[in-house]
Amino acid sequence: MSALMSLGYDQMQLAPFSAALAQQALSIDFGTRSYPIEIGLLDWRELGLRLTHRGGLAVVVTNATVGAHHGLRLRVALQTAFTEVRELVLPDGETFKSWTSLQSIQDALAQAGADRKVTLFALGGGVIGDLTGFAAATWMRGVRFVQVPTTLLAQVDSSVGGKTGINLEAGKNLVGAFHQPAAVWADLGTLKTLPTREFSAGLAEVIKYGPVADMAFFAWLEDNMGLLLQRDERALAVAVRRSCEIKAAVVAADEYEGGLRAILNFGHTFGHALEAGLGYGELLHGEAVGIGMLMACSLSSTCLGLEAGLLARLHKLLVMAGLPVRAPRMPEDRFLALMRGDKKSQAGKVRYVLLSRPGVAQLVEASDESALAAVRTHTV
Ligand code: NAD
Ligand code: GLY
Repeated sequence: MSALMSLGYDQMQLAPFSAALAQQALSIDFGTRSYPIEIGLLDWRELGLRLTHRGGLAVVVTNATVGAHHGLRLRVALQTAFTEVRELVLPDGETFKSWTSLQSIQDALAQAGADRKVTLFALGGGVIGDLTGFAAATWMRGVRFVQVPTTLLAQVDSSVGGKTGINLEAGKNLVGAFHQPAAVWADLGTLKTLPTREFSAGLAEVIKYGPVADMAFFAWLEDNMGLLLQRDERALAVAVRRSCEIKAAVVAADEYEGGLRAILNFGHTFGHALEAGLGYGELLHGEAVGIGMLMACSLSSTCLGLEAGLLARLHKLLVMAGLPVRAPRMPEDRFLALMRGDKKSQAGKVRYVLLSRPGVAQLVEASDESALAAVRTHTV
């Protein structure tokens, strides 16, 4: 086992946690490519006005579920800012984060006569966001897109930071591009219709930010999980805002994941293997990440001597959030093969995001045997 490198926490500009800051404007600092992250109970009539680029064709990409809730509202909101507004409705589900869906978007853009001035709007969760972002990254070698995240997971993670892509049979997100959105429009009001299981899955990505970056936020989550589960707007504003602050600080410091950004993948090496190995959709992404974080904590104890207290606190918080804490059984050789395909692997060696202490992560190579021991600890 070896801790591979310093991840560059010192590059991250992150102010201490304060629940009082939840109402302030937030943006991600990429110099001329900086963009706003609007969070709150938003007035969609203002969306058009807030965009710096208007006019021409807008194409809303959504799925049948989200389109039925919010499609009309978004199209109406965009009519004041764009000459023409079209909508493409895809089937709903992780299995549709695929080449076929990507091709549907590209075909629709061709049919609409979309040129380099087109703006795509990703209306939905992480699946629609990743897909639409990748379509925007590749249409005419890159056009503008705006993230309109409607799941908790998308509001706290996938809509921010510019990772876009699709899944392959061989693994999650294996094909994709870094392509930053022009804006993120995270209306907390959309979360009212989110099914409970999806809401809990989003909480896993919120919880993730504690162990890797901010244990004060983790403690706040322990105290406020009840309010979050009631979808209390003030508590949600704090949780979404702090998650985006952390994500923005990490990504601004390391856009292309040379080091620090890997911390956002805490639990994901195990989690992605669970998702792909059990079949996409069996465990939700957030559910798999939650169990993956427990496995990563156990491996951290073996490899880096992490205190046992954090594993117990994390376990308790995941249970409070309504998340599963044990993985269904999966053949171990399949588990290892999928983890070797992880994008952080190098020369066939799996590198895990592990914790040296609560709030601080490291990228570490671990033996297959110790990784499997951690898997077994959290498997039914
Ligand atoms: P999802 O996009 O499948 O949405 C979950 C479900 O909720 C879907 O059935 C969707 O139709 C429904 N839904 C969405 N908004 C709704 C609303 N407001 N009301 C009712 N139903 C609604 O799943 P997700 O959890 O949002 O995203 C998971 C995906 O995100 C995975 O593919 C994962 O790999 C990806 N992801 C990407 C990043 C990144 O940085 N790009 C980060 C984390 C996760
Ligand atoms: N969700 C991990 C990342 O954006 O890097």
